[in-house]
Amino acid sequence: RREVKAECFELHARAQRFFQNALAARGAEKARAYLDRRHISHDMRERFGLGWGPDSWNSLKDHLQQLGYPQEAGVTAGLLSHNKAGRVYDRFRGRIMFPIHNLAGQVIAFGGRGIEEDQEPKYLNSSETPIYTKGDHLYGLFQARRSISSEKSVLLTEGYVDVITLHQHGFSHACGVLGTALTPRQVHRLAGLAKEIILLFDGDRAGRKAALRSALMVLSEGVSCRVVMFPEGEDADSLLRKKGRDVFADLLANARDGLAFCLAVVRENESPKEIMRWAVSFIQGLKEVSWQAFYIPKIAEGLGVSEKELREAIGQPGTTQSPKAIQLHLCG
Ligand code: GTP
Ligand code: MN
Ligand code: MN
Ligand code: MN
Ligand code: MN
Repeated sequence: RREVKAECFELHARAQRFFQNALAARGAEKARAYLDRRHISHDMRERFGLGWGPDSWNSLKDHLQQLGYPQEAGVTAGLLSHNKAGRVYDRFRGRIMFPIHNLAGQVIAFGGRGIEEDQEPKYLNSSETPIYTKGDHLYGLFQARRSISSEKSVLLTEGYVDVITLHQHGFSHACGVLGTALTPRQVHRLAGLAKEIILLFDGDRAGRKAALRSALMVLSEGVSCRVVMFPEGEDADSLLRKKGRDVFADLLANARDGLAFCLAVVRENESPKEIMRWAVSFIQGLKEVSWQAFYIPKIAEGLGVSEKELREAIGQPGTTQSPKAIQLHLCG
């Protein structure tokens, strides 16, 4: 088991160097042009170890073979795939490679972005491997950790490019959730470094839904939270490119209180009966019972319900519904 993991780490280190060299080499003109088009600086390409997975079925495969690794090791590490006939080939082809690091700085997985309009999927991520569990890690946390500790605050975004553009504009306390929904394990990781999480999700339906869900999770884990809402169709990357650093800094300074944001969404979208059910479920979902005293008055006020009724409802068993079910209902 130990050996399998050690080999996976080794293969990822090899692959990362291979992709990085490929980006600098002949044949990667398209890839460099893509990064130029997205205005990703050379400093950031270095800082985040960006690379290029060549548009070929066997370039990494041959490279690892030359280094003496068995093909199965590359498959176990999730860098190579095989078809039904057992033929082994490169998993990441024709993609900009974003290495995902653990806090020790080791590469544990990759995200790969297609550079053609019609390339599907747009992002191809590593599957789970002996060294990578989805929902455990955050993109860019290794690069952001010192800034997060000194700012006591973390900017959390959806995408790889969002994180890089933020760092490029001096917001180096940014990291990303890696496509999946934010998990309690990720929140714990950040809570160890920061007092506050600022959510910067996309200005679209999916982003607003994720912001509500994530804010609720952050709050119920006992971490303070603020939420930035982008104009429709914008994300952290596109807005920074269009408006620049100062406008963006204003947005951050005016980020909405996470609890107020959640309460407003619930109040605007639910019937009085559902509002009460939601309030009960949120309070019962708090990790520590002692936090109830802090939240009950705020929630009663924010939702426009009576504090007395809310307290009574909490005392009554049988009124609970899982927070997940309620969130789904809320967000449609
Ligand atoms: P750009 O188009 O490069 O700016 O990406 P984006 O980060 O703005 O993409 P989007 O808002 O569509 O998605 C946010 C994040 O979700 C991405 O950074 C990925 O981590 C993930 N994601 C997006 N599209 C896909 C996909 O097709 N497959 C997978 N597995 N993940 C995706
Ligand atoms: Mn998408
Ligand atoms: Mn999006
Ligand atoms: Mn986006
Ligand atoms: Mn984007």
